[in-house]
Amino acid sequence: MFEHIKDENNNFKNLINGEWISSASGKFIDINSPLDNSLLGRVPAMTQEEVNIAIETAKEAQKKWRNITLNEKVEILYKSADILLENIDELSELMMMEIAKDRKSCRSEVSRTADLIRFTADSAKNLSGESIPGDSFPGAKNNKVSIVRREPLGVVLAISPFNYPINLSASKIAPALMVGNSVVLKPATQGSLSGLCLARIFEEAGVPKGVLNTVTGRGSEIGDYVTTHKGINFINFTGSTGIGARISKITSMVPLLMELGGKDAAIVLEDADLELTASNIVAGGYSYSGQRCTAVKRILVVDKVADKLIEKIKENMAKLTVGNPLEKDADVVPLISTKAADFVYGLIEEAKEKGADLVVGGKREGNLIYPTLIDNVTTDMRLAWEEPFGPVIPIIRVKDKDEAIEIANKSEYGLQGAVFTQNINDAFYIADKLEVGTVQINNKTERGPDNFPFLGVKSSGMGTQGIKYSLESMSRPKATIINLSIK
Ligand code: NAP
Ligand code: G3H
Repeated sequence: MFEHIKDENNNFKNLINGEWISSASGKFIDINSPLDNSLLGRVPAMTQEEVNIAIETAKEAQKKWRNITLNEKVEILYKSADILLENIDELSELMMMEIAKDRKSCRSEVSRTADLIRFTADSAKNLSGESIPGDSFPGAKNNKVSIVRREPLGVVLAISPFNYPINLSASKIAPALMVGNSVVLKPATQGSLSGLCLARIFEEAGVPKGVLNTVTGRGSEIGDYVTTHKGINFINFTGSTGIGARISKITSMVPLLMELGGKDAAIVLEDADLELTASNIVAGGYSYSGQRCTAVKRILVVDKVADKLIEKIKENMAKLTVGNPLEKDADVVPLISTKAADFVYGLIEEAKEKGADLVVGGKREGNLIYPTLIDNVTTDMRLAWEEPFGPVIPIIRVKDKDEAIEIANKSEYGLQGAVFTQNINDAFYIADKLEVGTVQINNKTERGPDNFPFLGVKSSGMGTQGIKYSLESMSRPKATIINLSIK
């Protein structure tokens, strides 16, 4: 299935105009495994000329693709989902090696993605337009009818992050294709082998040549060029707030859909079910070492129950498995890079130096940071505000729900928040006041189910994802007005 997307030296190629093309310049980037540093392959460091070809190809191919019937598009997406599942073993193994995610989570990412692709196809079938009579507007006569349909935007640039290389690529590609756009996928460099395999799957399923193209290369080198390219009509980016902000600064008149960083708070009130709260916080904060945008990234707990909660969290943390996914299905795995591990460790050290209390963890072996819980974190510490993207959760003690809301909202981020309480009035009071895209009541912060709207406010994003919402974001209304001549 994946043989012809690379050569005998493990140099991967890019999908351009239906062909797998090697690097024209001969420049490649090594992709090493964060697990054992083995060389998994090399991807082309594409030049501007190569990027031009990928985007121009997409532009041309979109003209035909937009007119392919919805039924045919649905069939292709269904087939993509089937082929994805047929290759779950190989893909999960590659993903595990490439991004150090445990095998079980890799498999669930692949099967979740197949579900997402099918649901996207089904939802697109249910998109419909409307006809609007003109005479409801003051002064208008009854001779006008607006027929509103949805049409594609053109070429969608999909930029995905390292942590969900299959899912967060497919969740952009599938809706873009269903509403008639063509796509240029720029996967995260660490994650690009998985991204290229995904493109191969869509190709095998029958996506016509030129409709899906891939671009590889470091974002720091080709990112500005790709995002400001005149051929791009829409950018769907998932990644850090810093890069997202850069893209929104340098682009002009191109609609953006961005899912960015987060600092999701779990707010715990006095009457919370502490068993439920602790198990949710531990699962939400430490799975895949906290390398999830929606990970629980701080606990704001009412002081009166803080000690009891900490005991319960410790019990749950003791059940976490830690280590190399090559050896076991670990919850906490080595971080994606030494740079990431240095950053997370730095946040822990700074909090300790400023007087926070290390409750569990704080240990580091190479890029593996042990699950860490830190109490008495105060608002003058970086850990109170910065996104670690690692397995560390700070506890900030508060006097009541209003102080929790105040600190939660002081964050530059606004992805999700969780409230643990048995009082529905308090739950709604807090949900109403939190400046975030989603509030979870008595559950950890998390994206799914994938048909729910998923969005961040403030520095956590712009626009709304989630299957139906992505389809709408990647298409626009087109009105055709019938003017009847009524005598
Ligand atoms: P990242 O460093 O921002 O990279 C994301 C993507 O942007 C990669 O494909 C990267 O390519 C590319 N990129 C880098 N510089 C660019 C530039 N100047 N122009 C255009 N593209 C550029 O993020 P990450 O480390 O992969 O992911 C972790 C971050 O993503 C965290 O902050 C996390 O919260 C956020 N995230 C958010 C969500 C969400 O839905 N809200 C989901 C997942 C992750 P290279 O790999 O080649 O640099
Ligand atoms: O990393 C960001 C993902 O969108 C989070 O998805 O909550 O299902 O892990 P998740």
